Amino acid sequence: MTLIYDYIVRVHLVFCSYYQFCRQHDGNDELMPTDDKGNLVYSNTSYLETWKALEKAVDDGLVKAIGLSNFNSRQIDDVIRNGRIKPSVLQVEVHPYLSQEKLVKFCQERDIVVTAYSPFGSPDRPWATPDEPILLEDPQLLDIAKKYKKSSAQVIIRWLIQRNIVVVPKSANPARIRENFNVWDFTLSEDDMAVISSFNRDYRFIAFYKTVNGKQEFRDKEAPNFPFAEEF
Ligand SMILES: NC(=O)c1ccc[n+]([C@@H]2O[C@H](COP(=O)([O-])OP(=O)(O)OC[C@H]3O[C@@H](n4cnc5c(N)ncnc54)[C@H](OP(=O)(O)O)[C@@H]3O)[C@@H](O)[C@H]2O)c1
Repeated sequence: MTLIYDYIVRVHLVFCSYYQFCRQHDGNDELMPTDDKGNLVYSNTSYLETWKALEKAVDDGLVKAIGLSNFNSRQIDDVIRNGRIKPSVLQVEVHPYLSQEKLVKFCQERDIVVTAYSPFGSPDRPWATPDEPILLEDPQLLDIAKKYKKSSAQVIIRWLIQRNIVVVPKSANPARIRENFNVWDFTLSEDDMAVISSFNRDYRFIAFYKTVNGKQEFRDKEAPNFPFAEEF
C-alpha cells in the first residue's frame, strides 16, 4: 500500500485496476514474475486494501477522484459496500464487439461514469493475431459510416458518446487525432445506434488467452479477483 500511495501525485483521478495489482511484486522490477515452472505469480493483495489507500489519498488532498478499471459488477458492489468513497469512474473495454450493455447500465444506475478504453479494438496491440476480427474494417460499420460521410472510427466514438460513455481513443497521428475530435456535427439515429449495438459478440481484444485441449481460455483465469469470468 505504501508503494501505491507513494506513487500518487497530484492528479484528478486515480484508478484501481485489476491489471495493475494482479501480479506479485517481491521488490524487483519484473513486470511479469513467474515461478520456477514458468507460471505467472499472482498477487493476493485485496483490492479493498488498495481502495483504502486510494481513499486516504483523497483525504490527504492528493487526488480529487478515484475510480476502478477492469472490475466486474460484483467487485464494484463490494467496493461500494465496504469503502467510504464511491468510485467515480469505471474504465473498461467497450466497443461494438464488446458493447457491455449490462455493466454500463449497472454503473450508470449508480452514478458511476463509464470510460471506454480501446474503442477501436486496439488494432496496434502487439499480441494481435491474423485471425482476429478488425473492428474498424467491419463492413456493416463502414456502411453506416458512409451514410453519415464519416469514418468508422468517428461512428464508434459517436455511438459511445450517445450512450453517455466517456471515450479515450489513442492516436499518435495528428490528422487522426483531429478526426477523432470531429464528431460533434452528426447524430446517429436510434435505429443505427441499435444496429451498431447488435454487432456485440462479447469479444475482448484486451485479454490474454491460452489454448487448453484445443479450446481458448483466459490465461489469467486462476488469478485471485480475475474479473472477466463472470457475466458482467
Ligand atoms: N485501463 C486499462 O486496462 C486499459 C487497457 C487498454 C487501453 N487503455 C487505454 O485506452 C486508450 C486507447 O486504447 P488502445 O490504444 O488500446 O486502443 P484504441 O484507441 O482502440 O486503438 C488505438 C489504435 O487505433 C488507431 N487509430 C486511432 N484513431 C484512428 C482513426 N481515426 N482511424 C484509424 N485508426 C485510428 C491508432 O493508430 P495511430 O496511433 O497510428 O493513429 C492505434 O493503432 C489508451 O489511452 C490506453 O491507455 C486502458
